[in-house]
Amino acid sequence: MTDPFDNWIEKLFERWHRELTHQEVVRALKALTRDYVQRRTRLRGKALEGRGKQAAFAMYYAPRHFVIVREALKSLGAPTDSPREVIDLGCGSGVAGAAWAMHCGANIVGVELDPDVLREAAFTFKDLGLRGGGIRCHLGKYRWPKAPVGIIAAFTINELDERDRERVWRELEKQVKGGSRVLILEPLSTRITPWWQDWSSRVTELDGRADEWHFEVELPQRVHLLGKSAGLKPERLGARTLWV
Ligand SMILES: C[S@@+](CC[C@H](N)C(=O)[O-])C[C@H]1O[C@@H](n2cnc3c(N)ncnc32)[C@H](O)[C@@H]1O
Repeated sequence: MTDPFDNWIEKLFERWHRELTHQEVVRALKALTRDYVQRRTRLRGKALEGRGKQAAFAMYYAPRHFVIVREALKSLGAPTDSPREVIDLGCGSGVAGAAWAMHCGANIVGVELDPDVLREAAFTFKDLGLRGGGIRCHLGKYRWPKAPVGIIAAFTINELDERDRERVWRELEKQVKGGSRVLILEPLSTRITPWWQDWSSRVTELDGRADEWHFEVELPQRVHLLGKSAGLKPERLGARTLWV
């Protein structure tokens, strides 16, 4: 039987290559990296405009995020039998919640503003064999589920303005007090997360932990090749995490 992760990557590349060539995706990946990583345009704004950039995110950054979340959960010793449901805040193509759902056999709910990436999330869940769906919603207006659940926010909190970030924090704190587990991931560089130290202290006060990870794992060959073709360093995989 095909491994669900390999099946997902195969279908992902097959689907996008019906629309775009390797060279087109490489060009878009370079442009996206300029906007997303180097200029830090928010993804919900201009950075993801255009099918090429959507493909580049889905085919390169999303698989990286999946692997980073999977490795972080293993390193954190996250239980493999709970939670029963994972809520993925700013889910994009759904990979972070999917990695947790696969780790512990949970259902998944993706919360996301952008309808195009929510469609991509539906493919992710189906091709990984997960039970899940998406809700199109601004995080500031989200009606949170009853605790306990698992809540993940991967590379999302940095896209919120201070008011929404604080609103999300208050909800996360309530969730933790109700028994939910929370995992927040952000890039290793704190340039775009000036609030990180403050949140680390808050999480520690809730008996959680803050970590920095560098993982030595291989990405699927096609993802690696795409990164190399765009002049990136696909072998460098890491993140900061907050885990309660
Ligand atoms: C950098 S992407 C990360 C996507 C995904 N979590 C991952 O790890 O690949 C951030 C996502 O958050 C979404 N987002 C940003 N602000 C949001 C908000 N206020 N409400 C819901 N989603 C939001 C964006 O549309 C984008 O898909």
